[in-house]
Amino acid sequence: MMQKIGIIGAGRLGTALARGLSKAGYDVAISNSRDAASLTLQLSILLPDVSAKDTRELIDWADIVVLALPLRKFTELLGELFDSKIVVDAMNYWSPVDSKLPEFDEYANSSSQLVAQIVPNATVIKTFNSVAYGEIEEMTAGSGDMTSRAMAIAGDDQSSKAIVSRMVEALGFEPVDAGLLENGTRFEPGTTLFDARLSKDQMIDLLKKV
Ligand SMILES: NC(=O)c1ccc[n+]([C@@H]2O[C@H](COP(=O)([O-])OP(=O)(O)OC[C@H]3O[C@@H](n4cnc5c(N)ncnc54)[C@H](OP(=O)(O)O)[C@@H]3O)[C@@H](O)[C@H]2O)c1
Repeated sequence: MMQKIGIIGAGRLGTALARGLSKAGYDVAISNSRDAASLTLQLSILLPDVSAKDTRELIDWADIVVLALPLRKFTELLGELFDSKIVVDAMNYWSPVDSKLPEFDEYANSSSQLVAQIVPNATVIKTFNSVAYGEIEEMTAGSGDMTSRAMAIAGDDQSSKAIVSRMVEALGFEPVDAGLLENGTRFEPGTTLFDARLSKDQMIDLLKKV
């Protein structure tokens, strides 16, 4: 069964994911910081198969919630809204956008582990964060490089990771299991894997070294 995917964030990454996943047959909805009405015109022109929802309604509706908004903005949302959901953390702690977030600055582990603490009753899987939105658009358009399309994925729950891996495949990428969520540090900003176009074998080799 194809899951219902709710994407929070209708910017560069969120719309690229929405286009690719809806093209692959998923039922996709998207939200921004305002309300569904503010997205209707944009979606009707650019993403006619994607529906607009208010963020709360979107989370309630979705089986899988993709976080494609700035990390700072995510920390302002109520964690309990995500209870029992699979949450795909595609965010990065990115100081030009997020400025300073002391709790993330002082955290030595993966930012996704801190995200998981904010949504304690959800299952957090980390992926999509290390690939530029343009690369996702290329794959959806059929112009992507099929020799370097590995995408790292980390999470503590194998069955949720398998479900999210199928989304990665549906976008045209090859999921590479990086292990537990704590291994998210291996493909965050500043690492060799971040924003690198790699084959599956290259990524597996690099993951062993970091
Ligand atoms: N850009 C990339 O290539 C890329 C790749 C991988 C990962 N990422 C990560 O993805 C995240 C988003 O990046 P982006 O480049 O897509 O940002 P962006 O283009 O600036 O878009 C951000 C989106 O988040 C929405 N938003 C902000 N606050 C919100 C809230 N409280 N509730 C719901 N939606 C909210 C914004 O809505 P409004 O328009 O209403 O403000 C906007 O649609 C970042 O953490 C980034 O590190 C980005």
